Amino acid sequence: MGKDVIIACDFADGKTCLEFLGKFTEEKPFVKIGMELFYAEGPAIVRALKSRGHKVFLDLKLHDIPNTVKKSMAVLADLGADIINLHAAGTRAMMEAALEGLTRPDGTRPLLIAVTQLTSTSQERMRDELLIDRPLDEVVLVYAQNAKAAGLDGVVCAAPEAGKIHAHCGKAFLTVTPGIRFADGDKGDQVRVMTPADAKAVGSDYIVVGRPITGADDPVAAYRRCVNEFVG
Ligand code: C5P
Repeated sequence: MGKDVIIACDFADGKTCLEFLGKFTEEKPFVKIGMELFYAEGPAIVRALKSRGHKVFLDLKLHDIPNTVKKSMAVLADLGADIINLHAAGTRAMMEAALEGLTRPDGTRPLLIAVTQLTSTSQERMRDELLIDRPLDEVVLVYAQNAKAAGLDGVVCAAPEAGKIHAHCGKAFLTVTPGIRFADGDKGDQVRVMTPADAKAVGSDYIVVGRPITGADDPVAAYRRCVNEFVG
């Protein structure tokens, strides 16, 4: 899979999501389904999106003991998801077990990427509540290296971190980056943002774009603008 724009479908129910995607008559965007929609609709929403021809990034951020994650990943791989994620904090043993679980009987498997530290976790909270004294950017990088050592395909990261992660983990190690805004757009609650063009320049492999597309007056035009800036 090459560079692509993934639309974050942060909708409360499947009907709204499918109505939204119905606006796209010429292209089949890659979509991200998060916990809210998955918990509301269950596996049926993934099957519905796959049967309509979309690629699906299932953003469920698994984090449990290796055996539980392995078995859960096997269920998710069966749904036909294209990208799945987990927390690198679950340790290498959990990530390796996840990969085993994801591998289908025919040898294929979804891409597996790791969340390092959530962007909502500040340096202070990490130190005071998680008792991790090291600098946040070092923790992000080491977690990414652990993910690579476990055999994962990449990480979710902020666009400014993509270059450093590629430098240490290799160009083929995927960087999937949210926090994308158009130069003339509203930042909303995102703090560190980048335009699709800048994300391309720093080497992001996939950008995850929510409200700049889902909240646009013309979502199809906004999606095409993203694709033109990032891929085109
Ligand atoms: O609407 P917006 O473009 O901000 O959506 C970004 C998407 O990426 C949301 O689904 C959000 O949960 C997700 N995300 C993020 N920052 C992270 C990880 C995931 O914004 N560090």
